[in-house]
Parts: sequence; C-alpha cells; structure tokens
Amino acid sequence: MTATVVVGVGGGVAAFKAATLVREITRAGHQVRVIPTPAALEFVGTATWEALSGAPVYTGVFEAGGADHVEIARNADLIVIAPATADLMARMRAGMANDLLTTTVLAARCPVLIAPAMHTAMWEHPATQDNCQVLAERGVHIIDPIEGALSSGDSGKGRMPEPEEIARIALSYLPSDATIPMPSEDHSDLAGQRILITAGGTHEAIDPVRFIGNHSSGRQGIAIARCAARRGASVTLVSANIEASLLPDGVRIVPVVSAADMEAAVTALLPEVDIVVMAAAVADYRPLAPAQMKLKKSEETDVPQILLERTPDILAGLARSPQRPACLVGFAAETGTREQVLAFGQEKARRKGADLLVVNPVGQGRGFGDVPNDVHFLDRDGQVVGSASGSKDDVACAILDRVSAIVASTMER
Ligand code: C5P
Repeated sequence: MTATVVVGVGGGVAAFKAATLVREITRAGHQVRVIPTPAALEFVGTATWEALSGAPVYTGVFEAGGADHVEIARNADLIVIAPATADLMARMRAGMANDLLTTTVLAARCPVLIAPAMHTAMWEHPATQDNCQVLAERGVHIIDPIEGALSSGDSGKGRMPEPEEIARIALSYLPSDATIPMPSEDHSDLAGQRILITAGGTHEAIDPVRFIGNHSSGRQGIAIARCAARRGASVTLVSANIEASLLPDGVRIVPVVSAADMEAAVTALLPEVDIVVMAAAVADYRPLAPAQMKLKKSEETDVPQILLERTPDILAGLARSPQRPACLVGFAAETGTREQVLAFGQEKARRKGADLLVVNPVGQGRGFGDVPNDVHFLDRDGQVVGSASGSKDDVACAILDRVSAIVASTMER
C-alpha cells in the first residue's frame, strides 16, 4: 500500500542526511512531501527536495502556490522530522505554528517521529530534555541521538543516526510494513496511557571486569513494550543490558546496568507514568564493596570471599510509594513443579503488593531467551486469576489485556 509521508527537515547540519531518508522512503514505494523549515534551506535548497520527492516544496503557510497545511496533515500517514533541532522541538512543545512544518504537525493526527540532532550541550540542556519528555508524553516518537563526531569538531551525544536507520524505523510505522502482530481486538485501548517497562537483567559489579548477572534476554519485556506502543501507549523501556539489536523502535529507551541504576531511573520516571511493568530480572544481591581494580589470582591466597548485600526491592518500594502508579505489574520467575511455582508466586504476590503478578516457570529450556512462554496471573492476594501461553508476543498481549482492565477499573472508581 502506498502511504503519504511528510518528511520535515530542521535547520541543522544533518539536513543533508534527510536526502537519503527521502530516497529510502520513496524507494519503498511511498509518496513523500518534504517540508523544510526556513532555516533548513540554508543547508539544502528547495530544488534538491523537489527533485527527490517529485512534489512542490514550501516552508511557509502563505507561500505562492498555496500550501494547505490542513490538507497535507490530513493526507499524511506519518510525519518524520529529521533532523529535529532544539529550536524546532521547543516550538513543537509550545504548540507554535509559525511555519508550514509546525502548522502541519499541529494539524496532523498521524504518528509523528522525530530524530533530534544537535550539539551535546544543547541536547543535555534541561530545556531540551524537558521538551523531549513532554513531546514523548504527548505521543511523539523520539529516535534518540547517538554518540559520535559533531559538526563543531567535538564528540558526544547529539549526532543523528544514519538516515537508512531512520527510514527503517519510519517504515515500521506504516501499515504496509505491519510486521508486528496486533493481537488485541481494540487497537487503541491504551491510548493516552504512559507505561514504563523494565526489561533485561541487571549486572552487579564484582570488580571492573566481572559481574553477577542472570540469563534474562529482555525479550518478554520488549514484546510488552512493542505491543503497548501498538495499542496507543506512550512507552518508556528501562533496558538492563539488552542486546541492542533486540530493542524495539518507537519507544523511549533508558539504558541501565545495575539494580541501583534501575531504581534511580524508575524513581525519576515515576511521576510521569500511569502503569509500571517490572519485567526485568533484578539481582537480589550485589557485592557489598566492588573492587576498584581487577581481582588477581595468586598461588598463595585462598579463593576470594565476596561479601554480598541485598539490593533494594524496587517493585515492593513502588507498591508502597505515595506516587504508586495506577497499575503495577510484577514478574516472578520460579523453578520447580507447577505446584511449587504457584506456591512461590502466591507468597510473592502477597509480599510485593503489585496489582498483578505474572508468574512463569523458568529453567530447562523454559522462560529464558527466544522460546515460548507460559505464565500464571496472580492478583494482589495471591489468587490465580488466569494464565496465558504461547509466543512472547501472545503472552505480552494477554498481560496488556489485564493491564487494560485494571486501568479501566481504577478509572471507574
Ligand atoms: O523477588 P523476586 O526477584 O523474585 O521478584 C521479582 C519481581 O520483583 C520482578 O518484577 C522484578 O522486576 C522485581 N524486583 C525488584 N527489585 C529487586 C528484585 C526484584 O523490583 N531487587
């Protein structure tokens, strides 16, 4: 199916990369309408955009030829803005409509994807971070800038990812590239909900080269993140050591390493979320005093004794927090017979205080990695209220059905 994609171009050095983005989207068989900001034309001119897209190019609402922003917005299946400058993001956040691009964004109801690019200092400035956060909460999908060489000669975070990568992400938002199954009947039952999902497994440092970790690949949490985004939620994924190629598009990624990092990230994000799903395997213990230098072997000394301490129980802390989210979901990976797994789960459900505990048997080829999953759902009192099995996408969908029902019931109260 041919889609109509508006490619917005902000006034930054990375504007030239948008030419490749336009070419890739056109090559995939879609119609592109390029709308540069006036400043973007300082970098790449109208003639280039018209030649690449085969459509007229305007920057202002009142330009000759008359560009009807409402019509452009109505026809768009997707708006992708690359590069998005700090100034453009600030104007989008403020709801300004002082050029054709911002006016079109305001009038559009299709997904909006932005790829910010700027100097590290500008990206890290609280104003930009705040704008980014607000835009993400409103449902704008953000492709975070990457580390690398910047036009100033400095190096740091702020570089726009390669346009081929942006094109790949953009195409995943179009109906013709519906590679991700949408298992729910209601495609937007989580619209307006802000969901934080933790996934992966924490690493607790023993010394600078060694850690205590676990086998969690992050796949179940990722499936929930993808499915939640498809169902209209604004998704933040707190990713603990997940292989980069597995990370989903269209969600905000917050990387963490240890349980302490995860607790700090979740606590900081808590005021801005409605739902928390703690799918990550968080270490229960960590070395009390990680060595500053690599531990050495020696013939004379005994094997080292590593003293451990408890990590904070993030999930239990969230359940008691005055900022407790409207819906809190925990996971319990357990080993043993079905009866043992359920008994461990029941005890945990009562102790943790989450609205829903997803209990899954692990080990011996079950639970971890690229394998199907089977889970039991327990309520806060430890009662078994259901189960689900199948691919991790199927299980994600079943979990979100329950989340959706819990959210709906809290709204009724
Ligand atoms: O106690 P256990 O590790 O089995 O609990 C599993 C659940 O608790 C998961 O949802 C996990 O993300 C969460 N957890 C936590 N903080 C810890 C340990 C586990 O939030 N320190």
